[in-house]
Amino acid sequence: MNANDTHWTTAITQIEPNEVRLRGYRIEDLMGRISFAGAIYLALTGSPPPESAIPLLDAILVSSIDHGATPPSTLAARTAASTGAPLNAAIAAGILSINRYHGGAIEDAMRLILELVQAASDPAALEQEAAALAGAYRQSRRRIPGLGHRIHSADPRAARLFALAEEAGIAAGGGRAMRAIAAAFAQQAGRALPVNVDGAIAAVLVDLGLAPELANAFFIMARVPGLVAHIHEEATRERPVRPIHPTDHAYDGPPPRDWPPGEQP
Ligand SMILES: CC(C)(COP(=O)(O)OP(=O)(O)OC[C@H]1O[C@@H](n2cnc3c(N)ncnc32)[C@H](O)[C@@H]1OP(=O)(O)O)[C@@H](O)C(=O)NCCC(=O)NCCS
Repeated sequence: MNANDTHWTTAITQIEPNEVRLRGYRIEDLMGRISFAGAIYLALTGSPPPESAIPLLDAILVSSIDHGATPPSTLAARTAASTGAPLNAAIAAGILSINRYHGGAIEDAMRLILELVQAASDPAALEQEAAALAGAYRQSRRRIPGLGHRIHSADPRAARLFALAEEAGIAAGGGRAMRAIAAAFAQQAGRALPVNVDGAIAAVLVDLGLAPELANAFFIMARVPGLVAHIHEEATRERPVRPIHPTDHAYDGPPPRDWPPGEQP
């Protein structure tokens, strides 16, 4: 239908008889040729991602797929499942618990990084601006988003994302800015806090030119499969309405093993 003959328009997907086009591309041409993460970038931004960014976008989604049974969204999803809620309701319970203090650090870190990124091409200016920002946070006793972790003193996911960004040639001002703020905090506080996965995702998303408003969406899209796994396990392994202790639980899945599978000696 002609856009002028309708009440409103959308620029995302065009549907005609026997034809589905995402941002102009035939869906069957994308299928099998672009990863799900690449298609997400295309859907959100309207353009295909640079080829080198696709493994990085995938890595962002993989990095946050699950973090055990303790995160609030997981506990919320399991609690809902335990009451007999259907899958969609239990997923919704989990997603509704992803907010400012859980998952929200990615957006806050992106905004912080964007404040610094202008200075990122000049190391001296970056150091100075990062010191000023870290000082302002410390003075107002606010936590710097993207730094620190309850469990990890060196977040393996952050290190890997930075390495992949470097490999892809996408590591730019965002990564430099996040590391500069971590260094400034360490210098001022006299102790270091690790850049966490949210800080690393934020740096990469800034370097990929994504809007901070989309940050939480990346965390949610990454975490939904993990939530589904927990909901299914709760429904199939546990009795209904059991008391779910938030931290007193143990892992009984496969023992540590190496990736890729099948290459063990
Ligand atoms: C993730 C987080 C909640 C973990 O907290 P934690 O290790 O349990 O830290 P604690 O609450 O025990 O705090 C330990 C100390 O480090 C400080 N601290 C922790 N993270 C900090 C941060 N990001 N910025 C400044 N100070 C921080 C705390 O203020 C506290 O100081 P104090 O002992 O002088 O009171 C915390 O680091 C944080 O709020 N980070 C920012 C938000 C964020 O990036 N979240 C994403 C996590 S993946």
